[in-house]
Amino acid sequence: MSNSVDASRAGALLTVDLGAIRANYRLLANMSRASCAAVLKADAYGLGMEQVAPALALEGCTTFFTAHLQEAIALRQLVPEGCTIYVLHGPPPGTAKDCFQYDLVPVLNDPGQLQEWRALALTLGRVLPAAIQFDTGMSRMGFAPADLAALSNQPDWLAGIRPVLVMSHLACADEPAHPMNAAQRRRFAQQREVLPGVPASLANSSGIFLGHKYHYDLLRPGAALYGINPQPGTPNPLRQAVSLHARIVQVRSVCEGDVVGYGGHHVCVGERRIATISVGYADGWLRSLSGRGQAAIDGVIVPVVGRVSMDSMGLDVTGIAPERVLPGAEVELMGAALPVDAVAAAAGTIGYEVLTRLGSRFHRRYV
Ligand SMILES: Cc1ncc(COP(=O)(O)O)c(C=O)c1O
Repeated sequence: MSNSVDASRAGALLTVDLGAIRANYRLLANMSRASCAAVLKADAYGLGMEQVAPALALEGCTTFFTAHLQEAIALRQLVPEGCTIYVLHGPPPGTAKDCFQYDLVPVLNDPGQLQEWRALALTLGRVLPAAIQFDTGMSRMGFAPADLAALSNQPDWLAGIRPVLVMSHLACADEPAHPMNAAQRRRFAQQREVLPGVPASLANSSGIFLGHKYHYDLLRPGAALYGINPQPGTPNPLRQAVSLHARIVQVRSVCEGDVVGYGGHHVCVGERRIATISVGYADGWLRSLSGRGQAAIDGVIVPVVGRVSMDSMGLDVTGIAPERVLPGAEVELMGAALPVDAVAAAAGTIGYEVLTRLGSRFHRRYV
């Protein structure tokens, strides 16, 4: 399986290992008695929802989350009938009927969304399923405690709605010792009391690793499926799911004092050989990797020198055999030698941003 960008003409080759994503799903699902969903928002974190969703369905995943309604509508055709698709942002104003038409379950986050879903249920004369999200402290999405208390005092607040899930999201799950984790769990336990017996979901990837108390009925991993380490600073139990190989365009010898790249900030010390490779910030390779990023050539790490340009950047390949760094040869930017978390650390960001920025010019191969 591949995309329509011709491999020989592309600047770089992106390989997505669907087997690794399936293995990661299995590992996470086996960590708990809770069911395991998959978060596929942002095109499956940049890896391609069209390929990732069916692969996870083959692995037994039947519950999926997207952020936007449009993503959920696209996902509907990619997974078998009967799978549940939640829309985390809920229906944007005026779109409740689209959720119904595509058999999607909105996550209701505030009184306005609740009102629209109830109004649709009334118009259709049906009972419609919904997830209810509580804000347990992140102040991002979900019913504020005061709104929830006021609403749930009204006897018909869920008229026409069948709550199938209550959920919240952890702000600091990647820091196991952070007091916010336990505080959010306590608030979640309290807020759930307005809907006793409704299945619950709290844990994202890192939350799963906080232990069973955080698991409830449904796990919601995203990042860990795609190989991002859910416990930064400890060995990653997940398999890397993505590798990126860029092509060398040109190799040149430079002398002491020559500069490389925009701004002329990299000044060569002694004679060096510089390979220009055809990946740049237009491909999502972050400009903050200027002078800080790395590439691997047969496992040997070489530095990015000078600024990352729009379509290219320079590598110092002085220590590499010249016959290995000819135009057209591939160098690894992410993969076995350079895991996504290492790339993110060099760029001063998180693996989530590295993956979701991966560009559209690559030849993509799914294995
Ligand atoms: C509400 C919600 N649940 C689950 C996830 C998945 O989180 P992660 O990718 O950290 O596993 C996200 C992603 O940000 C989210 O917003």
